Amino acid sequence: MDFLTSTAILPLLFGCVGVFSLLKLLQRMRMRAYLQNAVVVITGATSGLGRECAKVFYAAGAKLVLCGRNREALEELTKELTASQVTKVEMHKPYMVTFDLADPGAIVAATAEILRCFGYVDVLINNAGVSYRGAITDTTMDVDKTVMEINYFGPVALTKALLPSMIKRQRGHIVAISSIQGKISIPFRSASHTAFNQHVGICSWHLQMLDSATPS
Ligand SMILES: NC(=O)c1ccc[n+]([C@@H]2O[C@H](COP(=O)([O-])OP(=O)(O)OC[C@H]3O[C@@H](n4cnc5c(N)ncnc54)[C@H](OP(=O)(O)O)[C@@H]3O)[C@@H](O)[C@H]2O)c1
Repeated sequence: MDFLTSTAILPLLFGCVGVFSLLKLLQRMRMRAYLQNAVVVITGATSGLGRECAKVFYAAGAKLVLCGRNREALEELTKELTASQVTKVEMHKPYMVTFDLADPGAIVAATAEILRCFGYVDVLINNAGVSYRGAITDTTMDVDKTVMEINYFGPVALTKALLPSMIKRQRGHIVAISSIQGKISIPFRSASHTAFNQHVGICSWHLQMLDSATPS
């Protein structure tokens, strides 16, 4: 056993750990290089996950387009970001685009505004969304429709509007932040479940479409 440990297992183990660490390092370097100067659009950047994503992408040197309805919150985030010159990479002042995902008319104008910021989009992060809690019998159709507009139709419309420019450049990534509620039913979440369920479905549709039509 001693012989085996010293001659075979330990070197193999160290070798595996070494190769794994090297791969991880290369992966991080590649990701950092991709994100530096990449145009990243984040919906729902005014709070929670979107706000935190903005900080991470900004620190990586991405050119941000921050979206939400609350202009003041976006301005506050922009101030916070530009005040935090902590990394060695070149930072870019973020743009802000305010629009309501539940308003189909606003998305067309917002897309044009987003594209005007840097001329193109490398990464679209469909993060904005709402979760509604209530018994199915108390959940009105208006609530169902609004949740569907924000969590499903809005992101789909925005994605479809930005996709042609990505396809034209043969470059682009679309990130969908959904919820486990799209996969399993949770009591008192009927409205959110339906919307997230459709969201999960459209994500696989995006993948199929991108596989057959496009770039990386
Ligand atoms: N937190 C969780 O535990 C959890 C779990 C599962 C899934 N998720 C999903 O993850 C994403 C982020 O969650 P979070 O907790 O970070 O959410 P959050 O803090 O509540 O932030 C939601 C964001 O969505 C934006 N938003 C809401 N309604 C909008 C509308 N009609 N038009 C445009 N933007 C709108 C809000 O911005 P404005 O108010 O400025 O418009 C806000 O920035 C959401 O899609 C959420 O459903 C979260």
